[in-house]
Amino acid sequence: MRSEIRTIYWKDGEVVLIDQRQLPHRLRYLRLKTAKQVATAIKDMAIRGAPAIGVAAAMGLALTAYHCRSKDVGKLFERLSRSCDLLKATRPTAVNLFWALDRVMKAAESARSAEELRRKVIEEARKIAEEDIQMNRKIGEHGAKLIDDGDKILTHCNAGALATAGYGTALGVIRAAYEQGKKVVVYACETRPRLQGAKLTVWELMRDGIRVKLITDNMAAFLMQRGRVDKVIVGADRILAKTGHVINKIGTLSHAISAKFHNIPFLVAAPFSTIDFESSLEDVVIEERDAREVLYVDGKRIAPRGVEAWNPAFDITPPELVTYIITERGVYKPGELRGLGLEE
Ligand code: MRU
Repeated sequence: MRSEIRTIYWKDGEVVLIDQRQLPHRLRYLRLKTAKQVATAIKDMAIRGAPAIGVAAAMGLALTAYHCRSKDVGKLFERLSRSCDLLKATRPTAVNLFWALDRVMKAAESARSAEELRRKVIEEARKIAEEDIQMNRKIGEHGAKLIDDGDKILTHCNAGALATAGYGTALGVIRAAYEQGKKVVVYACETRPRLQGAKLTVWELMRDGIRVKLITDNMAAFLMQRGRVDKVIVGADRILAKTGHVINKIGTLSHAISAKFHNIPFLVAAPFSTIDFESSLEDVVIEERDAREVLYVDGKRIAPRGVEAWNPAFDITPPELVTYIITERGVYKPGELRGLGLEE
């Protein structure tokens, strides 16, 4: 097993994170000193993936707390709230972002001095990152029970170490199965328009020595028809507890429909921080990104000038297409999530 990928970490008043836009060609880290820089990194997708942007946003707040030298707890809290608004406005769909920011702000609220606030905010942000890795290992443990030796597994986008603080959700399950000695083959869908599958998932799995084959997104249904997929496993950006809908990278819905048609289990792996216990379907904002992501591939224009394009970043898979949702607390059917949050 190769050394573990450290997607993001806190070091002496800096947030250090992999610039994912440069992968797979270069492994470069960005060193960020302000919440604004973190917000830009999230917006521009230097860091992406639901749990990872939650961790990044929390660390963005930690930067504000660390670098603002005010001795007035009220003023410091005000600065923190402004950073929080900035970070909340980066991406609208993945719920981990809002969950992590709310969690850090809650920790800050209880501070009685500026020094205490600083300490609590930094501690909470680092804790969120640490916990994320632990939760992913638990998800892996639960999920690996659903994977058989020799399984051929289709995955979409990147729900790996790079999309989290480490280890990964969907790829965490695959990693855990592989660590148990199960020989799996992964089919990674390239995931247009940003190509997270081709650029990130393949890179991660190859580093670990896990066998992976790259396909374009439109090959998935045919691969299933040929009997070459035993399971589909994806991550999630938001799961609605009330209804069991799974919001994930655009293209997921097509794979879920194809899997249902071919009687292939469709598994979703995500931590509880991805489960939204409040929202209904109509509350969810699906991010629409710049049309240029569709019109260009790696900076090269591929469509005639003047054509319009539509670029939703996520789609919504209804619960009837989802076999299981794998979390750090265990494996659930989509309909079983309702009410679970209240047990806290
Ligand atoms: O737009 P991205 O790259 O931030 O998309 C998020 C994702 O990585 C995927 O949707 C993933 O499957 C869920 S995050 C583990």
